[in-house]
Amino acid sequence: MILDIDNLSKRALELYKKQKYVDSKQLSLDILETNSKNISVILNLGNIYFLEEDYKKALEYYRRVQKLSGDDIYIWGNLANTYLQMKKYFRATHYCWKILKQDPENVFALNLQAQIHLEQENYGDAILILEHLKALDPLNPWVYNNLSQAFFYTGKTLEALDMAWTAVELSSGEDCHHINLGYTLYEIGLEKTIGFIKPYIEKWEQKYGDNPIVKYFADSLKGNTEIIKTDTEYLKKIFDSFASGFDESLAKLDYSVPKKILQNIKKNISKKSLKMMRVLDLGCGTGLCGKFLSGYAKPHILTGVDLSEKMLEVAKEKNVYNQLICEDIETYLQHSKNFSDLIIAGDVFTYFGDLFSVFKQISKHLDSHGHFIFSVTENQHNDSPWFLHSSGRFQHKEEYVKNTLEKCGLKVEENQHEILRTEAGKKVWGYIFIASKIK
Ligand SMILES: C[S@@+](CC[C@H](N)C(=O)[O-])C[C@H]1O[C@@H](n2cnc3c(N)ncnc32)[C@H](O)[C@@H]1O
Repeated sequence: MILDIDNLSKRALELYKKQKYVDSKQLSLDILETNSKNISVILNLGNIYFLEEDYKKALEYYRRVQKLSGDDIYIWGNLANTYLQMKKYFRATHYCWKILKQDPENVFALNLQAQIHLEQENYGDAILILEHLKALDPLNPWVYNNLSQAFFYTGKTLEALDMAWTAVELSSGEDCHHINLGYTLYEIGLEKTIGFIKPYIEKWEQKYGDNPIVKYFADSLKGNTEIIKTDTEYLKKIFDSFASGFDESLAKLDYSVPKKILQNIKKNISKKSLKMMRVLDLGCGTGLCGKFLSGYAKPHILTGVDLSEKMLEVAKEKNVYNQLICEDIETYLQHSKNFSDLIIAGDVFTYFGDLFSVFKQISKHLDSHGHFIFSVTENQHNDSPWFLHSSGRFQHKEEYVKNTLEKCGLKVEENQHEILRTEAGKKVWGYIFIASKIK
């Protein structure tokens, strides 16, 4: 059979355009077997590896294109962007400059250069470029989103708010820009009074109040006491957007809950026993707790439940879970007929105010000799059993957690007062609880 390489190449590119990346990749690799110098197919593969965040491979294919077709602005742009994702700022800047030498007003390279400055915390330089971009590319919401961050970190809060709002408006309310506006309001609210940010919240709610991100941010920022659990639509969107950088961001915040949960498992459960256990990781996220646990001993079955598909995709790459289930914790517990010998939940009840119904479900699901190990953040703010912080996260009183466990047929074996992570440079205190069934 004579292969029509031109048609096959066209097909591979069409598949890419239709976002059928797996098929496009396979076809491109097949084509290269017989036609190893097919530039458009090599470039296509570079782009697919870039989307898959396999930047080493993306670079390899972009370099092959560069060798075969020579240097041009387009390939420099791909190289600059790939080096930026790899945080190799020197190399990324090198390729941006090459582009800007030929085309000083190249919007793509200027955006990349601004991003490089932002990531390196050179806010003054970032502002200079972004202000220039405002004239060249005035309808691009990312220019304003980036400017809002640069203004915020240089103390220009009103300008930061103004730019974050413009990004929302220009994008017609895309989630990522709502999230940026929400966090800008939150950070400003920490420094100023609620009165200062209230007019902005009201304007935001009036226009975009149907969006779950806007609604939940507004409720938390205004301290709405009627909320008893974080809105699951909001959570999905927030954690889907955080997933790819989650592990890295939490390491920067000295997030220690998975390590502390493991320390308690080690104290209470031998390796041999753990290997025979059915373990349930509630709100498993990107699988940090599962990874720590499996480093000690691989459980008989390790199941992770989380409502963010993207967090679960990252967890899957860790290769430690037998099953990953994308569902709300309470919905899962209501229909699951399986029992667990160990249930863990790291930084998950931060998204539940009232703990009664979830603890009740957990108690039913836990085997009679089982353990339940989890963290909660301490409510240092007021005397309420739980409190919805302006960050959108719940904090709990130690006594309330203990009493609720007991009401649900669980008794506290141990309870440690610990620093769980940092936030805005401050230590976040909480508790690690170890509970078991009341017999
Ligand atoms: C801060 S992360 C912690 C992830 C992981 N346990 C860890 O320690 O790294 C909280 C996770 O809980 C999940 N989550 C929060 N509420 C949930 C719910 N009601 N149902 C399922 N997952 C939930 C979020 O999607 C997110 O992935």
